Amino acid sequence: KPGRIAVVGSNMVDLVTYITRMPAPGETIEAPDFEIGCGGKGANQAVAAAKLGSAVSMVTKVGDDIFGENTRRNLAQHGIDIRHVETVAGKSSGVAPIFVEASGENSILIVKGANAALLPADVDAAEETLRAADLILMQMEVPRETVIHTVRRAAEWGVRTILNPAPAAADLNVDDLRDLSFLVPNESELALISGLPTGSEDEIAAAARSLIERGIGTVIVTLGGRGARLVTRAGVVPIAPVRVTPVDTTGAGDAFIGAFAHFLAATGEVEGALAQAARYAAHSVTGRGTQKSYATPEAFEAFCRALPPSA
Ligand code: RIB
Ligand code: NA
Repeated sequence: KPGRIAVVGSNMVDLVTYITRMPAPGETIEAPDFEIGCGGKGANQAVAAAKLGSAVSMVTKVGDDIFGENTRRNLAQHGIDIRHVETVAGKSSGVAPIFVEASGENSILIVKGANAALLPADVDAAEETLRAADLILMQMEVPRETVIHTVRRAAEWGVRTILNPAPAAADLNVDDLRDLSFLVPNESELALISGLPTGSEDEIAAAARSLIERGIGTVIVTLGGRGARLVTRAGVVPIAPVRVTPVDTTGAGDAFIGAFAHFLAATGEVEGALAQAARYAAHSVTGRGTQKSYATPEAFEAFCRALPPSA
């Protein structure tokens, strides 16, 4: 049975340039291709969960420009509840110039724009929607105080929370996140937040455990091509990678988190949800762009059927 998921987070317009290499300072070179797409970590995660069939609501802010209307329409077209999508007068929408190399590797610049105006008061205004959710998802492309406030309120309401601490910030204080259910960092975000090295499996486990000691429920470390690690008080469970030939890795982490939330809310089973999320993210890497590369349930099923039995 599909669950109810709320996202308190960002939306961006992705301006994606496919490049052969980055220009040096002062240099002009030609790039083979360009595409505009709907992105932003919050909206990407919302769209992944909605495409899979969850009932999704989004609390976010857009600018009063052509991008803002487009984002609103895009969310609505995915069946996402947009009653808490607000337009900020005199602000630009969030945008993300992205550069994708032939290897599928990406570099991203983000301009927060209206996302910077999402405040704790907006979370309070959406209380009715948020407390009816099975899970609340957050990222770090909106003000930190808004994330911390949401984690605290959700704990009062008894709603479980997932935070993807991206983009990473070294000065994020773990003690402010004591009530968080799931933290989902990659290894560099884990290193920054814990202040510990994450160069080896043992170091990753120790860094994740240090966060659990400080009050975070569960830590899920994403390792790109090496899969993920589920770290709880009970120990570390490896989540196997799903091998594909990458076309565009942008937004794969968001596909992973949106799918994890969807399957967790639907089944209540963390390990199984993570295995499904790894497959969903792998599929997204085989197509260009972020949201537009996220599979429908039918396409996802077909992709899974074609995988070797071990994946
Ligand atoms: O995680 C990928 C996303 O990061 C892109 O869609 C871009 O908008 C930035 O937010
Ligand atoms: Na993709």
